[in-house]
Amino acid sequence: MNLNKLKSMRMDYKSALLDEQMVPDNPLDLFKIWMSEAIKRKVPEPTAMALCTSTKEGKPSSRMVLLKEVTKLGFVFFTNYESRKGIELIQNPFAALTFYWSTIAKQVRIEGRIKKVSRSESRNYFASRPRKSQIGAWTSHQSTVISSRNELDEWFRFYQEKFKDKKIPCPEFWGGFLLIPQQIEFWQGRESRLHDRILFLRTSRRWEISRLSP
Ligand SMILES: Cc1cc2nc3c(=O)[nH]c(=O)nc-3n(C[C@H](O)[C@H](O)[C@H](O)COP(=O)(O)O)c2cc1C
Repeated sequence: MNLNKLKSMRMDYKSALLDEQMVPDNPLDLFKIWMSEAIKRKVPEPTAMALCTSTKEGKPSSRMVLLKEVTKLGFVFFTNYESRKGIELIQNPFAALTFYWSTIAKQVRIEGRIKKVSRSESRNYFASRPRKSQIGAWTSHQSTVISSRNELDEWFRFYQEKFKDKKIPCPEFWGGFLLIPQQIEFWQGRESRLHDRILFLRTSRRWEISRLSP
């Protein structure tokens, strides 16, 4: 396909609006309303979010992960603690998440502090995963270089055999992170690029709401 037309590709968003008068006091409540709408409107992979981490020196990197829970405290996802993101999050426990739901012209940007979830929470979630995903977690030394696809498949077969007819334990190197938000911005696409942007900023006592220029 010819990509010469990228510069002329654009959408005009006409679907909805976002007003500071209509938002709840807690941005987590608004997030749940928007996520429910994304699910109802059949946005593909609505729980997929870009996770941005950075090294101690401030060099950023990002990748997609899946949101698995929204608690009173924040946003939970699971990964390999020894992966690139895992190491960065342990060394520099601040991160950003971005959701984009194109069907409903909505974006949510979240920034905050990172904590590991409890071992019991990670074990419980791991136990709920399909068996093949559990074996996959044991198989993958995520983010390290491997010699070939074949090597990966062989390790998969090795763990399949090792755990045959057994309950598969959650590896110590695998588990969840909780992002505790310090700010959340809700972006609603509007006509003529005059989008609505509502920012929630956590102060010591409450969430402060402001509107940002698009
Ligand atoms: C839609 C989507 C969802 C993903 N979900 C996860 C996830 O929940 N956890 C995870 O560790 N990797 C997930 N991945 C893979 C990551 O994007 C990434 O390739 C991997 O975690 C290694 O990242 P790192 O080397 O930066 O640590 C997902 C990828 C895509 C495209």
